[in-house]
Amino acid sequence: MNKHLLKMADLTKDDIFEIFETAEKLKNYNKNKIEHPILKNKILGMIFVKSSTRTRVSFEVGMHQLGGKGLFLSQNDLQLGRGEPIYDTAKVLSRYLDGVMIRTYAQQDVEDFAKYGDIPVINGLTDYAHPCQVLADLMTVKEYKLKEYKSFDNLKLCFIGDGFNMANSLIVGGLTVGMSISVANPKGYEIEQSIKDYGAKFNSRFIFTNNVKEAAKDADILVTDVWYSMGQEDISERKEAFKDYKIDNELMKFAKKDAIVLHCLPAHRDEEISSEVFKQHENVIFDEAENRLHAQKAVMVKLMG
Ligand code: CP
Ligand code: NVA
Repeated sequence: MNKHLLKMADLTKDDIFEIFETAEKLKNYNKNKIEHPILKNKILGMIFVKSSTRTRVSFEVGMHQLGGKGLFLSQNDLQLGRGEPIYDTAKVLSRYLDGVMIRTYAQQDVEDFAKYGDIPVINGLTDYAHPCQVLADLMTVKEYKLKEYKSFDNLKLCFIGDGFNMANSLIVGGLTVGMSISVANPKGYEIEQSIKDYGAKFNSRFIFTNNVKEAAKDADILVTDVWYSMGQEDISERKEAFKDYKIDNELMKFAKKDAIVLHCLPAHRDEEISSEVFKQHENVIFDEAENRLHAQKAVMVKLMG
């Protein structure tokens, strides 16, 4: 496995399956209250330039359960927030820490930290990617769908919404494990050309459209994300552009009868997902949130162990 997890393209299919195997073992340890101090005395720095509930808590709790410590570092409290360069920050933090998780805006910032530092870097969300979320999503799909369907190859995942971090990472991750992926973004909010080109290499396994019904047709898994992400200010324009890009009972009719619904959370009910659909699928959605903990612990064991 690569030294860092900066985006889904850093992982091969084998890497992802190894992460699942470790994550499932760790999940079982938690269930059976078996201690597992695999990262005893290791310290993960957690730099947050944006807000977080799940990422912050699951990384901090995960490090604690692995016998180490997660150190919360808000950008406001770091000299980074006052203009200290990433180069210097990466050099210095590499002298203290065993790994770092970064949540920020620009993908280039996590790439630069990885380049200049000597410790593993985990992307905890950028505008471009959310690999930790997508590992948890794929793990949840495996739990719910692979008993019956045996392999990811027989599954179709449909993403409805913004061509942003979640769409990018689901496309790359989903195609890597073997699923078919369909994506519906509104005009003006489409995934960037490089992601479209990446998908096109998978021929009929990748569909890009502006039509939600076409994307949802026969899907086994439907996924959506908020209409306006952290840092996006044009909320009223977005509400108008995205009004037909939602998962509701009407859209569910186009998917398979036993389709599951995923949402990375936080969710805005009756915007990207109707209250009814959320309620009906909340068990899967909260299992998905729980799987953040197990999948990330597996990543930390691989990168910092
Ligand atoms: N899904 C997710 O990353 O949630 P947070 O923003 O709460 O970390
Ligand atoms: N697309 C959302 C995901 C939040 C987990 C955002 O970037 O705000």
